[in-house]
Amino acid sequence: MGVDRVGVDVEVDVFDFGDLAVPIVAAPMAGGPSTPELVAGVTEAGGLSFLAAGYKTPEAVALQIREVRARTDAAFGVNLFVPQRNSYDAAAVEEYRARLGETARRYGIDLPAVREFDDDRFAEKVDLLVDQRVPVVSLTFGLPPVDTVRRLRDAGSAVIATVTGPDEARAAVEAGVDALCLQGPEGGGHRGTFRVEDEPGTTPLIELLDEITAWCPLPVVAAGGISDGARIVEALAHGAVAVQLGTAFLRSTESGARTAHKDALADPQFTDTVVTRVFSGRPARGLANEFIAEYGTAPAAYPQIHHLTSPIRAAAAEKYIAGDMALWAGTGFREASPDPAGTILRRLWDEALVSGAARG
Ligand SMILES: Cc1cc2nc3c(=O)[nH]c(=O)nc-3n(C[C@H](O)[C@H](O)[C@H](O)COP(=O)(O)O)c2cc1C
Repeated sequence: MGVDRVGVDVEVDVFDFGDLAVPIVAAPMAGGPSTPELVAGVTEAGGLSFLAAGYKTPEAVALQIREVRARTDAAFGVNLFVPQRNSYDAAAVEEYRARLGETARRYGIDLPAVREFDDDRFAEKVDLLVDQRVPVVSLTFGLPPVDTVRRLRDAGSAVIATVTGPDEARAAVEAGVDALCLQGPEGGGHRGTFRVEDEPGTTPLIELLDEITAWCPLPVVAAGGISDGARIVEALAHGAVAVQLGTAFLRSTESGARTAHKDALADPQFTDTVVTRVFSGRPARGLANEFIAEYGTAPAAYPQIHHLTSPIRAAAAEKYIAGDMALWAGTGFREASPDPAGTILRRLWDEALVSGAARG
């Protein structure tokens, strides 16, 4: 990533992973976990951290950016969902809606009408990030229009595309982004696959890293199932410039995750994670719970299924019923600890330094 990029009207210093005191990124986590406090806690400790603009209004994102800047001068990022317009099987969605009826009745909820679109204010969010000259902008669920990449870069932002395999990585390089976030199958939450209907690959993160860093001219950030120092060292040794961790920060003091979600990550009754479409219609990894067991499969229809199950998940979270919540978690969820985010970051990096020294 370069420095001193000449923008439209001004010369700007562009974020460079090499300048990080600690090459650990706290992942964007939409739906509540990512907060300005979490961003400040991580960036002040020497890492990079993201606000998650997915599911949020531009006004709410603007407020969070202001809150971050009131807390820290350090570089931070904002993550966007690339808007989805997919074709889907409407009859299968209606059938799934009928199946959900029983759970909805248990919570006294009327399921909403099917909504087709997840973010009709994407363009306003891009305008906001350009206006605010946010140091790093990452995107998931596909590539943004070329013009969006250009505008963000002209404003001085480093633009990162989330990819889950070599084909997506090649497309992202061609789109002119500054870096890739490579998400392996071990990761918690949604897979960033470009197309809703694609079944996510199962090649482990480290193999993907080897395959992609062998030819990719851009810096690659590695994400997915990284929860301790040894895995950090391994990812860096396989060519990553930094590692991106979500689950490791989910239970942090500053995380806005629901209490039932935080508690479930440490609850011995939850022993496994699985990849499922039952909550949103897109593949995502979370703790195996009753809802997943009951519904089994769901149509590949995002954001339609997301909107259908949303009131059930919210009501379950209110009532502290983890069995009906989307308990997003990566494979390393047992290592997530309830400490301040800066403490977690420093502990992970200390572990990595010890582990790296032990390896020679
Ligand atoms: C609760 C949760 C929410 C997430 N939300 C987003 C998001 O809004 N945007 C994004 O690009 N990635 C999101 N992710 C994925 C992370 O960017 C990252 O790839 C993943 O957390 C890495 O795996 P790990 O959780 O095992 O560390 C989310 C992950 C979790 C656990």
